[in-house]
Amino acid sequence: MFSTSSLATTQRPAWKALQAHSSLFNEKSLKQLFAEDSQRGEKLTAEAAGIFLDYSKNRITEETLSLLCQLAQESCLRDRIDAMFHGDKINISENRAVLHIALRAPKGQKIMVDGKDVVPEVHEVLERMSTFSNRIRSGEWKGHTGKRIKNVINIGIGGSDLGPVMAYEALRHYSERSMTFRFVSNVDSTDFVEATRDLDPSETLFIVSSKTFGTLETLTNAHSARDWLLTGLGGDEKAIAKHFVAVSTNAEKVSAFGIDTQNMFGFWDWVGGRYSMDSAIGLSTMIAIGPDQFQEMLAGFHEMDEHFRTAPFEKNLPVLMGLLAVWYNDFFDAQTVAVLPYDQYLKRFPAYLQQLTMESNGKHVTLDGKKVDTQTGPIYWGEPGTNGQHSFYQLIHQGTRLIPCDFITFYKTLNPLGRHHDLLVSNVFAQAEALAFGKTAEQVRAEGTPEKLIPHRVFEGNRPSNVILADVLSPKMLGKLVALYEHSVFTQGTIWHIDSFDQWGVELGKVLAQAIIPELESPTAPELKHDSSTNHLISLYRKKK
Ligand code: F6P
Repeated sequence: MFSTSSLATTQRPAWKALQAHSSLFNEKSLKQLFAEDSQRGEKLTAEAAGIFLDYSKNRITEETLSLLCQLAQESCLRDRIDAMFHGDKINISENRAVLHIALRAPKGQKIMVDGKDVVPEVHEVLERMSTFSNRIRSGEWKGHTGKRIKNVINIGIGGSDLGPVMAYEALRHYSERSMTFRFVSNVDSTDFVEATRDLDPSETLFIVSSKTFGTLETLTNAHSARDWLLTGLGGDEKAIAKHFVAVSTNAEKVSAFGIDTQNMFGFWDWVGGRYSMDSAIGLSTMIAIGPDQFQEMLAGFHEMDEHFRTAPFEKNLPVLMGLLAVWYNDFFDAQTVAVLPYDQYLKRFPAYLQQLTMESNGKHVTLDGKKVDTQTGPIYWGEPGTNGQHSFYQLIHQGTRLIPCDFITFYKTLNPLGRHHDLLVSNVFAQAEALAFGKTAEQVRAEGTPEKLIPHRVFEGNRPSNVILADVLSPKMLGKLVALYEHSVFTQGTIWHIDSFDQWGVELGKVLAQAIIPELESPTAPELKHDSSTNHLISLYRKKK
């Protein structure tokens, strides 16, 4: 196929056509688009892997969709998908393959990296994780004093925390309720102290999760955990082996910390931190829900991977969602996307997506190192419904900014209770309807509203949203949902021609903090060579601490 991805994003023919086409929506509102086609609400939908996407309430026509799909083609999305699934080193700034899809590849599938099939290793680690999880869950694995492990604390940060916390919360219904699961991430001592204050060290297992095993926060917390454990168990170093396991790609550093590499679960440099919740980083998830349900989750991921890899763009859920995100980000100047799960178990899903989306697509240069010529990654944020409705929805309905929303809900609840679920879901449909169609001054007047209050009570409408519906939140469904967003992020990054898999933007702050630590801790006043603001802040802190 004719490839135009060598052209800067905004120079591609489809981009230019979309630019011209976007002015149509200055005149045409969602209300008009619906009035023109009584079938629109049924037509502009797609379903795959048990997920139904209603994208009819977007500022699009069939022509928009076809231009967006053309843009995907001109951006060589098909080739990029194939390159990722083939294990090509598409993370060019780190010279790495990007193979989170191999973490959920079934046994027997072959995925080669540097001439080696990586799938057998993935399954080897999964088997070790399963054996270990079963030993913990059954009580066969005992702590140093012979007691069974009742508490599991994952220590990690970023991708080594957000996925495990989100998955634990999302799958709590399926979890072993006799056990306690906690997550320590922040270097703020409060996080560690509060997570451990009511726990018995003899019943507690720490999983130290860090891809690099060099992250300041994680290592600091891991050292505090070690001290807490040894103090609680009388100082016998042998206790470490029974109460600490590690998840990492760095065996040397794990062993330098004092964890036997026999108690280490590995993964690989081709798994990005924010794409790692289904690797050994998911050990806490597996202990919580058991190996069989973890396998179900992987099967869900894989089903969405296959859909993404094979479905035509116009029926491909992650492609459609990715293209819509680009559409608002670049042609309507929308700065954010709100993700609004109407399922309490998904309360950490927006926080998880923040890293997935923004660490991936918050980039200012292209794959060739040139400055991008358009806006890249939108800000993803959100809270579960209906709570958000009583907090920030005001701005989405009547503010001056355009905020495309993803509503996520399920036909069935895991906790049936009277009318609750119908009430919950009615709110999803009502919010999407209100955003799209609003309420005119005439409607407000007809209700008898005093004239001077009418402007305050008008809803302009024409505010876009997607509604995502699925059967019930299960391990399998969670895998599908996460993969849906992973591949939407990939689609967006491909259009912008950026490296969605590096994260150099987090480095500078880390390096500067290393320089400041001794300046805060030094017993004598250090010579400060920062700017005048930083110097002053350091001096003030030293005086007052
Ligand atoms: O802050 C950046 C980052 O590198 C993330 O990408 C990563 O998920 C997190 O830190 C934790 O890194 P690690 O797992 O190596 O401790």
